[in-house]
Amino acid sequence: MAKCTTFPILFLFLIFPQPSLSQENNFVRQPASQLIITPHQRSNSEPQQVHVSLVGKDKMRVSWITEDKEAKSVVEYGKKSGVYDEKTIGEKTSYQYFFYKSGKIHNAVIGPLEANTSYFYRCGGLGPEFSFKTPPSKFPIEFVIVGDLGQTEWTASTLKHVGKKDYDVFLLPGDLSYADSQQPLWDSFGRLVEPYASKRPWMVTEGNHEIEIFPFIYPKGFEAYNTRWPMPFKESGSNSNLYYSFEAVGVHIIMLGSYADFNVDSEQYEWLKLDLAKIDRAKTPWVITLVHAPWYNTNEAHQGEGEAMREAMEELLYNARVDLVFAGHVHAYERFTRIYDNKVDSCGPIYVTIGDGGNREGLALKFKSPPSPLSLFREPSFGHGRLRILNETHAEWSWHRNNDKDAVIADRIWIENLSKVQDCCDISNSQQVVNEEL
Ligand SMILES: [Fe+2]
Repeated sequence: MAKCTTFPILFLFLIFPQPSLSQENNFVRQPASQLIITPHQRSNSEPQQVHVSLVGKDKMRVSWITEDKEAKSVVEYGKKSGVYDEKTIGEKTSYQYFFYKSGKIHNAVIGPLEANTSYFYRCGGLGPEFSFKTPPSKFPIEFVIVGDLGQTEWTASTLKHVGKKDYDVFLLPGDLSYADSQQPLWDSFGRLVEPYASKRPWMVTEGNHEIEIFPFIYPKGFEAYNTRWPMPFKESGSNSNLYYSFEAVGVHIIMLGSYADFNVDSEQYEWLKLDLAKIDRAKTPWVITLVHAPWYNTNEAHQGEGEAMREAMEELLYNARVDLVFAGHVHAYERFTRIYDNKVDSCGPIYVTIGDGGNREGLALKFKSPPSPLSLFREPSFGHGRLRILNETHAEWSWHRNNDKDAVIADRIWIENLSKVQDCCDISNSQQVVNEEL
């Protein structure tokens, strides 16, 4: 049973180093803030840590945890509050990490579901009613993107700002709970994000804080991450929960794994090559990628950590005309121009670092000087991003900086779809030939 009310060891985390505040453009940087512990306030048989994720074209995985081992893995759902016409029985599992034994982790895949529709649901046959809205069937579609979320007062502020404006799908490029092997913090994180993650699908990929390897005992790591946050990897032909792809309306989204082998002879590389070759730009004109460690980064923090992966995989993404690559890891916001192989290239992806969700480590305050001409906007502040894809040709990217009460749009650009840019079509046409041959 998960013990979630006392955390003596967590006192170590309660006093964090406070980064010195810097002032630039009349905006005072936010300091690191305190950890929030979100207690378990329901009965042991009631669901907690409820979250939903997309599976295939029209299904949703509902995930939740109970402390009661006998609780049923059933989801009842319907389009009217309190009226559950449908029912799906899923399965349950659990994991052990040293002396910690998780509660029962339930998963049920429900559907087929109608697009752009609110569903009401209940987990395990009792407890509170939840509701989510499915993504639309046509443009526009809006993604919220934020990495390195953690569970501090800044995390709560970021999530509050996210919740103030509607969106369709939440994308998280790694570093979720910052549990760092303190397993009850995974439970606390699940409860903190439930009001958001139970309402809209959350699609995540792993960061370094999910690794939790312990030599000989847990040599492969990712025990908690893989069990608590299962993503639809099998549906995209991947053999690992650490990398996968999925589609939403006209967008193909690739979630890469910075902490799975990525070299040219690796399974991930082979999988990526096949996944890119299968993309039909007529069906999904937009292709975006998320990865944890940034391939381009002018912050002094985590310099060069994504370089080996960039060297291995950048050419694949470039040849496939990926529109945007989002990363986390660096606790700041940075937007680059279109790049290929360290040079401005109008047919390369736009790179964005959005690792500023609100984690306990604070902000990465120092950027390299002088600024690189590749880097167009950089700021060490907490916040979140929104990618609103309006139609087949145009999208809007905006970065919303956390202020005390409101989110303020501090950066905004219009983006043209690369598959529609004539000068960039040559390689994507040859990619199309490969698709047809496959
Ligand atoms: Fe990280």
